[in-house]
Amino acid sequence: MNPLQSDSLPPSYFDKLYSEDPDPWKFETREYEANKYAATIAALPKERYRSAFEIGGSIGVLTQKLQERCDSLLSIDVSNLAQNRAKERCQHLSNVKFQIMRVPEQYPDQMFDLTLVSEVGYYWSWEDLKKSQQCILEHLEPGGHLLLVHWTLYARDYPLSGDEVHNSFFELAPNKLRHLKGQRVQHLKDQRQEEYRLDLFERV
Ligand SMILES: C[S@@+](CC[C@H](N)C(=O)[O-])C[C@H]1O[C@@H](n2cnc3c(N)ncnc32)[C@H](O)[C@@H]1O
Repeated sequence: MNPLQSDSLPPSYFDKLYSEDPDPWKFETREYEANKYAATIAALPKERYRSAFEIGGSIGVLTQKLQERCDSLLSIDVSNLAQNRAKERCQHLSNVKFQIMRVPEQYPDQMFDLTLVSEVGYYWSWEDLKKSQQCILEHLEPGGHLLLVHWTLYARDYPLSGDEVHNSFFELAPNKLRHLKGQRVQHLKDQRQEEYRLDLFERV
């Protein structure tokens, strides 16, 4: 936990970033992001998902790739600026819906068979992370998948580290979540890369 930043980062933090640069993390152009996105999609054990949920979809680069595996995908974000670009990118895709929503204060009133939390968990305070976990669990079908992907290096502004986020989901195993490892999912041998970590869980 970051003693200098114990509250969740507010929507204004992200709006400021997006107003200064439409792609602050260079999702569209960095090879690192492209490789991470390929690993993220490759980690999905099922060929198709009926109803997927993406928390913090940003400008929609990963959203566009993820939707190829989904009959329906709901992508939410706190930033209008970011989501408008995502909507533009995905305007030809009828299976993708967008909503402005701040997890955990708000959560969709439906069940999902896939929830993706990619590069968003460390913006929550410890308390919001715990509340978000409850929401994720309550809205994930038995047998449904939860995929976590987070950068693991130090960031001064972030309330939590990537490792703290992933480790706290491990506390929900084995009763509520089952961690899927390499032996069950062949391509998941290397879940920890140099700069990020990827963990896949199944709802019990
Ligand atoms: C670093 S981007 C991640 C984008 C994308 N998931 C990816 O992996 O490429 C984080 C996004 O999460 C959004 N976000 C931050 N806190 C959030 C919250 N509590 N609820 C929903 N979205 C949030 C931000 O606005 C930002 O667009």
